[in-house]
Amino acid sequence: MFKNLCCENNIYRNLVGGNWVTSETSKLIEIKSPCDGSVIGKVQAMSKEEADNAIANARDAQEGWNKIPLNERALILLKAADLLDKNADEIAEVMIREIAKDRNSAVSEVHRTADYIRFTADTAKNMTGETVPGDLFPGTGKGKISIVNRVPLGVVLAISPFNYPVNLSASKIAPALMAGNSVVLKPATQGSISALHLVRVFQEAGVPAGVLNTITGRGSEIGDYVVTHPLVDFINFTGSTEVGVHISKISTMTPLLMELGGKDAAIVLEDADLDLAAKNIVSGAYSYSGQRCTAVKRILVVDKVADELVKKVEEKVKTLKVGNPLKEDVNIAPLIDDAAADYVEELIKDAKDKGAKLLVGGNREGNLIYPTLFDYVTQDMRVAWEEPFGPVLPIIRVKDVDEAIDITNKSKYGLQSSVFTKDIDKAFYVADKVDVGTVQVNNKPERGPDHFPFTGTKASGIGTQGIRYSIEAMSRRKAIVLNIGE
Ligand code: NAP
Ligand code: G3P
Repeated sequence: MFKNLCCENNIYRNLVGGNWVTSETSKLIEIKSPCDGSVIGKVQAMSKEEADNAIANARDAQEGWNKIPLNERALILLKAADLLDKNADEIAEVMIREIAKDRNSAVSEVHRTADYIRFTADTAKNMTGETVPGDLFPGTGKGKISIVNRVPLGVVLAISPFNYPVNLSASKIAPALMAGNSVVLKPATQGSISALHLVRVFQEAGVPAGVLNTITGRGSEIGDYVVTHPLVDFINFTGSTEVGVHISKISTMTPLLMELGGKDAAIVLEDADLDLAAKNIVSGAYSYSGQRCTAVKRILVVDKVADELVKKVEEKVKTLKVGNPLKEDVNIAPLIDDAAADYVEELIKDAKDKGAKLLVGGNREGNLIYPTLFDYVTQDMRVAWEEPFGPVLPIIRVKDVDEAIDITNKSKYGLQSSVFTKDIDKAFYVADKVDVGTVQVNNKPERGPDHFPFTGTKASGIGTQGIRYSIEAMSRRKAIVLNIGE
């Protein structure tokens, strides 16, 4: 499906104005597999002028796209969803090699994305405007009515991270398109081959020329230029807090939707079902080797049940399968690159040096970090606060629920938090007090199902994602006031 279009001689091109174009910079970035270092392909580092061209194409195409009846735009998206399902194995294969995602997770990401796109098309078809009568307000008579509709913002710049290159690109593209915008996608460099496959699917489904365009190249080189581009009307970014904060500082007056880092706590209270808690914590913390913003990134367990919970968690962590996802089904695979593994190793060393009790793992081979579990982590240790984005889980023992809440809220992040308890009153007590976007009662933190609102407080984000919420974020209300006389 992809040969001779977006890719030739293993060099991936960009979609600009409906054509797969070769960059004139001749600057190529080798994408190597984190699994074995082999070169998967090369992507192009686009120049500023080429980025201008991609954005200008998006600008030119937007009005025409918005003129297409919404139900027809929805049909294109539905076709894209079907194509994704049909090509799931091929696209998953690319993801396994490019970002070292295990096969089950990679295949399920593609199908989840197809479902996301379908749901987006259906949701947009069911979104209507409203009329607001004037006489609700004192001094206004019957003759004034506001007719409120949603209109697109224009050109949406979508910037996606490496860890869900298909899903977190599509969850920006699909709602933006249904809202009538055109899109320029800047995918994570490691992840851009997977993302280009997704873009090819949208093109094949019939998204017209110029409505969806791509810009590849290092964020550190081309990023500042595109986020401050005068023709960009909205930035939808998922990635690290560091880059998110930087973008928010330089992108003056351009509205933002940002999903950033997290340090999600699993709070385990004395009356919790400990088997359920341990199962959720281990899958929450270690799936995709901990490289998820919603991974469980610390356990806060009350002293009374700590020994019992720790034993159950430790047993499960020891059963995780470590290895190369190209060769076998694994839970823990090499991290995205050596720098990521170096960072995780630093956190492990700091915890060891400061006296945390290492229960499992702690070792590294290349960019593979073995699943690591620390008990008796204290608040002076970096791993209590920093986001490893790797398979390292600290256990912090607390005396009671209020101490757990206090430590949860001391984090600069506020993505999600879990509370494990059989007492609904305690669950609501915690839910009310923790400063995060979502509280999960008796479940691991997770973004899905994808029509739920997904919000981060503090350093975890700006605005709310989720199908309807994303469509709303990427459109604005426009009012026409009818003055029809009394
Ligand atoms: P990242 O390093 O922040 O990169 C994210 C995206 O930003 C990439 O496309 C990157 O391009 C681009 N970028 C880098 N510098 C830029 C700049 N100056 N201007 C514009 N774009 C720029 O994050 P990552 O390593 O891919 O992902 C891991 C992080 O994302 C973690 O912190 C994780 O918690 C967070 N995350 C959050 C969510 C959420 O929903 N809350 C979901 C997934 C991930 P290059 O790849 O070319 O550098
Ligand atoms: O890190 C990506 C973020 O959006 C989490 O998604 O489905 O793993 O909870 P999920």
